[in-house]
Parts: sequence; C-alpha cells; structure tokens
Amino acid sequence: MQEIRFIPCKAFKEKPADETKLGFGKKFTDYRFVMDYYDGAWQDARIEPNEPFQLDAATSVLHYGQAIFEGLKCYRREDGGLQIFRAKDNFARMNRSADRLAIPLFDEELALKGLIELLKIEKDWVPHAEGTSLYIRPTIISMDPFLGVSAGKYYKFYIILSPSGAYYASGLAPVGIYVEDKYVRAVRGGLGFAKTAANYAASIKAGEIAKKRGYAQVLWLDGVEQKYVEEVGSMNMFFIIDGVIVTPALNGSILAGITRDSILKLAADMGYKVEERRLSIDEVFEAARNGKLDEAFGSGTAAVVSPVNELCREDEVVRIGDGNIGPITQKLYDTLTGIQFGKGEDKFGWVTRI
Ligand code: COI
Repeated sequence: MQEIRFIPCKAFKEKPADETKLGFGKKFTDYRFVMDYYDGAWQDARIEPNEPFQLDAATSVLHYGQAIFEGLKCYRREDGGLQIFRAKDNFARMNRSADRLAIPLFDEELALKGLIELLKIEKDWVPHAEGTSLYIRPTIISMDPFLGVSAGKYYKFYIILSPSGAYYASGLAPVGIYVEDKYVRAVRGGLGFAKTAANYAASIKAGEIAKKRGYAQVLWLDGVEQKYVEEVGSMNMFFIIDGVIVTPALNGSILAGITRDSILKLAADMGYKVEERRLSIDEVFEAARNGKLDEAFGSGTAAVVSPVNELCREDEVVRIGDGNIGPITQKLYDTLTGIQFGKGEDKFGWVTRI
C-alpha cells in the first residue's frame, strides 16, 4: 500500500468556542487527506493543510458535475476515546458511485488508512458537547481543464472534516415534509443510487419551494408514475404503519443509506416487523386518515434519525402522532446513537476505534 506523506501546516485555525452552536458543515479543520489521479493511477496520498484549491475556470467538474461524495462521522465516546461508524461501507458505496460516474475506482483500504491517520492528527477537533461529532466528507472531483464531455484524465480525492451539531436546526424536534409532485429527483437507470452532486442540485429548487410553505424537506416520489415514495434527498424515509416499520425498497433510484441499513438491522433485532417494499404515497395518506400511521422518520448520517410529524401533499395535510417523537423512533434513535457514541453494545461490529 502507498505511503501517506505529511505536509505540516504553518498556521492553525481557532477551534469553535461554543460547541452548542456548531450548526452543520460550517467550520473545517486544519488538515485534509488527498490523493490525485493521473497517468492512469491514484497517486501521491498525503495529508496536507486544508487550504483553498486553485482551479482553472474550465475545470470539468464545474461544468459537467462529475463529483461524488460521502458522509460519515467521528464520535467522541464518554471515556474520551474516538470512533467511526461503518466507514468501510461508505468507501464501498463511494466506489459504486465512482463506477456510475465513470470516475476511476480507488483503493478503499488506503482511503480508510488516510482517514484514520487524518483523524489521529485532528483528534482535538472532535467536539465534546452532547449530540455533536466530527462530520467527515470524502469527495472526488474531475480536474481536467477541458470542455469536452468525456471521462477525464485527472481527478482529486479528498477528505475534509467539520465539527458539527444537528443537521436540522430543530435538532430532534419533529419536522414537516412536503410531498413533491411536480419535480422528480431521479429516474431508474439515472444517478439516483449514486451519491453525486447532481442529485442534490436537482433537489434545491423544490426544497426552496417547500421551505416557503413552512416545510423542512421534500419527499420525492418515483420519477415514472410519481406515485411511489422514494426518499427525502438528505435522508431515507421510514413509516410505521399499523405497527410495521416500512421503507421503500432499493430500486436503483434511491440512495442505499448506511443509516437506513443500520435501522433495518436494529429494528429487526429488536423484534419489530420490518418491510422493504414499494410504498405508494396514497397508502401513506390513507393510513394517516385511518389513524394507522403511527410514526414516521427519516434516516441519514447527517440527519441521524429525524422524526416527521406532518406531511403535506397538494392541499392535504396529515399530522402524525401527537407532534412529539414517537416511541419506536426514539428507541431506534437511542440504540443507534448509543452504538455510535460507544454507550451501547456494538453487536454488529460496526464501530472502528481510532
Ligand atoms: C449525509 O447525511 O451525510 C449526507 O451526505 C446528506 C447531506 C445532504 C448532508
């Protein structure tokens, strides 16, 4: 495996003074891990100062969006130690995204080694306050200064770190979701399963419309019939219908969330009935009208487990539960974060100590 070079910083940033006001993805640490792709191989793995990149105005990623990324977190345990959660799964998914975007695959072991070395250097940036963590953003962008649409010869892989709090300003307080029935996020055969910039770009306009109506996020329906629930863009969705935990099955246009997979495994292990299947939005609203939609929540690395207490579709608004986080959602949140922060038993072997 390649050696990882170290290039020291000349000046260091101030760490956040108030860890209760971190927000999400606003501040970044002193160092990043980087590798460059040229001459047909990923080369020059290094940890270097996290300074602005210089990019030619023609750089291909700025025009054609050949960009993929991941999101994971480093958690501070009660005993002060640090740990990451399912990092190997993130790098495996990143290579699946790379394949779809015609980006050269990278060595997942080297990326993990680079991340762990970076975290050891930046350990003091992992916040201590309740519910905070160091958000990790691995990214690959195409770097060719060329306006032709084709696979490039130059790519950059980097990992940056951001001390962060809750993704939603409301924290664990439930959010309302707007069901989008005009725009679609992805279609089968497209990029939906990949964690690529384009999927997020496609979501911004609808997100702004939803926000104006007072909703935190958009619930996307399938791109063909606009009938079946897909995901929320920053989270996968779960509905508890008549005691059964239901989430849309992976169909090629939904992101295979690592938190989603963890929730499915934890819920089954707790003895709940879990279903991954096609779920129509009509079924969700019908269940709500009949008092059978017990709870709803989203899941994601940034959002963790985020309760949903209201759904709006055209002019119909349904409220879920009594407005507070539901008991099953709370139990799943507590169990998942218990493992992530090192308080609960890691029976699936998901955690790596740093
Ligand atoms: C994550 O949950 O890590 C994501 O990448 C979603 C992003 C919108 C914050």
